[in-house]
Amino acid sequence: MIDRRALLATAAAALSTSAVAGTAVRGQTAEPSLHALATQKGIIFGSALPAAPVLNRGTADADAWLAVIAAECGALVCENEMKWPALRPNATDFTFGRADAIVDYAAAHNMKMRGHTLLWHHPQWFPDWLTNHDFGSRPASEAERILTAHIRRVCAQYPQVVSWDVINETVDADTGELRETSLSKAMGQSVLDVAFHVAREAAPKAQLVYNDYMSWEAGHERHRAGVMRLLEGFRARGVPIDALGVQSHIGSGNSDDSVGFDTAQETEWRRFLDQAIGLDLKLAITEFDVHDKNLPADPAIRDREVAALGRRYLDLMLEYPQLDTVMAWGVSDRHTWLQGRWPRADGLPKRPNPYDADYRAKPLRQAMAEAFDAAAPRPPLV
Ligand code: G3I
Repeated sequence: MIDRRALLATAAAALSTSAVAGTAVRGQTAEPSLHALATQKGIIFGSALPAAPVLNRGTADADAWLAVIAAECGALVCENEMKWPALRPNATDFTFGRADAIVDYAAAHNMKMRGHTLLWHHPQWFPDWLTNHDFGSRPASEAERILTAHIRRVCAQYPQVVSWDVINETVDADTGELRETSLSKAMGQSVLDVAFHVAREAAPKAQLVYNDYMSWEAGHERHRAGVMRLLEGFRARGVPIDALGVQSHIGSGNSDDSVGFDTAQETEWRRFLDQAIGLDLKLAITEFDVHDKNLPADPAIRDREVAALGRRYLDLMLEYPQLDTVMAWGVSDRHTWLQGRWPRADGLPKRPNPYDADYRAKPLRQAMAEAFDAAAPRPPLV
């Protein structure tokens, strides 16, 4: 049994006392973790994590970061380490070291693993060797051989993964059409069906997910329609898919600053989710964070608005008993992909995560706790 209070106290020891006062105080109370609150309702809660803190244990920042992870999370997903560029230096070899480090850490802390991703079917995120691969005189079978070998080997390496993002982001957000890659050029769009079939065979107990970032924002209509066409096609062809992964990078500073509540967009979004569950799919929030790009500079105002939006969004999503997973895309503002993208006009660091850059719990953490607390119980995934 992991002592979460002791782990949060480690965060206090790892960083200067003033910086982590909030965390330490929270850790010394009987306040339940986000994982505990979610589990009570049959929901898996966890976070993305890169290998860096696991490999750098013993340094102040890594220890403080992992203290929050260990205290709050019941599941992990590798932020980048299971993607093709990380696992595949070439057409024959696999480099599992960095992903293994995260998976071993999860096992040691009794956490579940999500897998991201067996195929990010987007040319930008293919390794160069795969984009430039010579598929020979029988391109379809060579592409299928490479894809199949990859999925089988990766699933065999990580049998503990409870849910796989089999395909990530293959619908072009602007057109709603399927993206083309070297694999689809060689074997056609059957690449997507094959990936799911091989995943089912290689990971028969895992939930199989199509994961994407379509949202309710204006401008996402084609994206949503394209994703729904894809899901309907999967169902019509008997492709083994279990769930839709809704990434949930929400907030101010995305393509549309309006948040959609109480508008036609909210109605459209619910219709989209209803269509997905109408296909007998489960739902998962796979990459939750709340962008604060266009919110005022004052951190108190930003934190309050981020928390309010996060709460409302989670409440809406958790209305669906089919939603069995909520994964944060990082726990701390110190380490978020959003710091390096779309900078704020005032140049200030962003605050999109439940803990701040000094690992102090923020209002978003409280909002998440309250959303889990308010959610109806549901059958757990595992
Ligand atoms: O590790 C190298 C480092 O050696 C090199 O010096 C540095 C120079 O740019 O790059 C480092 O790799 C970066 C990697 O993150 C690790 O930090 C890559 O350039 C960068 O492209 C990569 O970004 C990741 C991105 O996916 C692309 O893989 C983000 O961390 C990660 O948060 C983001 O996650 C995606 C999900 O997979 C899918 N949904 C959207 C989400 C956010 O974009």
